[in-house]
Amino acid sequence: MKICSLVAKKGGVGKSAIATNIAVCAAVDGYSVAIIDLDPQASACVWADVRDADSEVPTIPVTSIAPSRLHSALDKCSSAGIDLTVIDTAPSADSGLLAAAKAGDICLLPSKPGLADLSALSDTVELLKNSKAKGATILNMVATKALKLEGTKALEGLGFPVVPLSIWQRVAWGHAYSGGWGVIEYDSSGKAAHEMKQLWTWLKKQLEM
Ligand SMILES: Nc1ncnc2c1ncn2[C@@H]1O[C@H](COP(=O)(O)OP(=O)(O)OP(=O)(O)O)[C@@H](O)[C@H]1O
Ligand SMILES: [Mg+2]
Repeated sequence: MKICSLVAKKGGVGKSAIATNIAVCAAVDGYSVAIIDLDPQASACVWADVRDADSEVPTIPVTSIAPSRLHSALDKCSSAGIDLTVIDTAPSADSGLLAAAKAGDICLLPSKPGLADLSALSDTVELLKNSKAKGATILNMVATKALKLEGTKALEGLGFPVVPLSIWQRVAWGHAYSGGWGVIEYDSSGKAAHEMKQLWTWLKKQLEM
């Protein structure tokens, strides 16, 4: 079983959106996938509750647990034959972030391209470096080419791997989340879907899936 953790101390940068979308890409690709939600806000659980009402999309089990139960939850996923577990975390440098960072075969650290978001990200990068976690930063909610260039340069300056693609700010993300879908299910030929498929292809390669 492979594990992908979404971590960032900053709130609202797309952890839950990317976590649920990775899970959808994996499920649509034929993998058995689960999400573990370590965030007390339980955003991924809320998304799954909406999703469960739609019988036409693959079911993705989402479990909300306290960080102290992460290892036993991962053992259960592994015993159940899950191919990929995605861990969503809370926006704080708490035990959940560290546990998810250590458990992840790969950790994705999303950031918006603004100065406040990028400077907050450097704290999370330091935490990951100190815990010897494997991961990469990824620019999310890019609105202009200038912000993309500026943001990518800032990420590269952190001395930590950077995912070689960015995700642009697109309305499909909000619509998909509200419907309990991934962007590839909401509009499979849209630009958001195209970017998400690129991220999934890159991630699969990193995880050797
Ligand atoms: N690329 C995108 N384009 C447009 N909207 C996006 C994009 N990514 C995420 N969003 C939206 O931004 C908001 C915040 O995203 P999300 O809830 O995933 O962030 P988060 O990091 O999990 O926040 P928190 O730390 O509070 O859990 C959501 O409404 C989500 O739908
Ligand atoms: Mg979240």
